[in-house]
Amino acid sequence: MSHRRTPNSLESLAAVPAVREAAAALAEAVARAASERGLAERDYQRAVAAIGRLRGRPLLLPAIASGVGRGARVRLADGTWKLDWIGGIGVYAFGHADRDLVETAAIAAAGDAVFQGHLLPGPEYLRVSRALLRHAGRRLRHVWLSISGAMANENALKMVLQKRHPADRVVAFEGNFAGRTTTLAELTDKAAYREGLPLRGNVLLVPFYDAAHPDPIGRSLAALDAHLQRHPGRIAAMCFELVQGEGGIRTAPREFFSALMQRCRAAGMTIWIDEVQTFARTGELFAFRTLGLDEWVDVVTAGKVLQGSAVLFTRAMNPRPGLVAGTYAGATVGMAVGARILERLEQDGYLGPEGRIALLGRRVERRFDALARRCEGAISRYEGIGAMHAFVAFDGGADVTHAVLRAAWDEGLFVFTAGANPARIRLLLPVNTTDEELEAGFAMLEKALRRVGDERGIPC
Ligand SMILES: Cc1ncc(COP(=O)(O)O)c(C=O)c1O
Repeated sequence: MSHRRTPNSLESLAAVPAVREAAAALAEAVARAASERGLAERDYQRAVAAIGRLRGRPLLLPAIASGVGRGARVRLADGTWKLDWIGGIGVYAFGHADRDLVETAAIAAAGDAVFQGHLLPGPEYLRVSRALLRHAGRRLRHVWLSISGAMANENALKMVLQKRHPADRVVAFEGNFAGRTTTLAELTDKAAYREGLPLRGNVLLVPFYDAAHPDPIGRSLAALDAHLQRHPGRIAAMCFELVQGEGGIRTAPREFFSALMQRCRAAGMTIWIDEVQTFARTGELFAFRTLGLDEWVDVVTAGKVLQGSAVLFTRAMNPRPGLVAGTYAGATVGMAVGARILERLEQDGYLGPEGRIALLGRRVERRFDALARRCEGAISRYEGIGAMHAFVAFDGGADVTHAVLRAAWDEGLFVFTAGANPARIRLLLPVNTTDEELEAGFAMLEKALRRVGDERGIPC
C-alpha cells in the first residue's frame, strides 16, 4: 500500500508527518533559544524608551514581548511574566506561543510566498475563505480577504456606496468604532480620532442600547426615523457594531437590533455588520449568528482573531470589477493560522450556545459577581459576553481607570481601557482561558482595585 498523498489535495501540509515533525523541531529550538534571551532591567527600560522615541509616542505600558509565552501568560523581554487579558487588542485567540499555531505558522512560512495577493492565491486563501463562508449563514455568498479591519471596512463601505448610489450617507451608533482611515475615522464616534481631518458630513448617529432608558428601542428607532425623514433617499446603509468594543464592550438584546434592521430594510438601506472585534468572541464565529440576526445581513466584516481581515457579502452586494482590489490578500502565515484557528474552534467544541466560548463568558460573569460583592464600590458596572468583557472601576473617571490599569499591570495583569464617560477596563481573553488563569487574574485585579481604593481613600 502506498503512503503517498493523492496528488489532487490542497489540504494543509501540517497533516504531512515529516513536515509536522520538522515544524515541531523548529518551534522547540526557537522556544528554547528565546527563553535564554532577555534584557537586564536597565537595558529593558532603554529599549522601552527607544520604542517611544522611534515611534514618537511612548508605550502605554512598558511592554516588550520576549517571544516566550504559555496560554494567557507572556514573558516580557526583561524576564517577568504577565497574564495577558487583552491579547494585542483581541488578536490572540489561543493566547501566547500556542504550539499548534506556532507549528502551523512555521509550515506556512516555509512555503513559497510570505504574502499572497489576489492574482495568485494559494491553498491558505481558499481554506480560510471557505471556513468563513461555512459559518456565515445562507445569505452571504462571497468573501474578499484583506489585511486590517480598517481595510475590510473600507471595502464594505465602497460596496455599499456603489450599490446604493446616489445615496451617500451612513448611519452608525453613538460610541461606534470602525477604523482609522480618514473616512472610517469619521464613522467612528470619537472626536480625538478625527482631530484635524476633513469631514464629509455623511455620518448620521443613533443612540446605542441603554438598559437604563425607559424605552431604549423606541429612542433609537425615533432617531433613525428622524434621519430618514431629513435625508430621503440619501441614506445608503447602517453600520452595526453588535458589541461595541472600543466603545466599552457594550451589549444589546436581539430585539434592539432586529427592530432597527427591519426599519433599515424597509427604507432600502444596506445592513452592514462590523465584526472585527466580535469575531470568534461571542459564542458563534459571528455575533450576528449568536444573536440570530441572519435574515438581515448584507455585508459583514471580520478581523483580529482571523489574523487578517475579510468582508463577506451577498450576491446582490457583489461590486462591479475595479472597485475592490489591492496588492495583498494577507500574509500566508496569517491565513494559515487563521484557518487553523477556525478549524480548532469548530472541532474542539468552542462554538454554540453550550460551547466553550459561551461557557467562558458565564465563568467570567460569575467571577465578576463575586468580585463586585467582595469589593463593593470598586466595580460599579460590568458587561460582557463570551471572551469579551469590561467593567467600570469606581466612578469610571479617566484618571482612576488609568490608575487601575497601571496597578493591575504592576500586579502582573495586562488589561486595557475602552469607552469614555464612564471609561471601562476591557478584557479580551483567550478562548481557552483556564480556571487557574481566571483565579490568578481575578486575584490580581482585586489587589489592584484595593490598592487604588486605598490610595484614593475610596472604600472597597
Ligand atoms: C469594531 C472594529 N472595527 C474596525 C476595527 C479596525 O481594525 P484594524 O485596527 O485592524 O484596522 C477595529 C479595531 O479595533 C474594531 O474594533
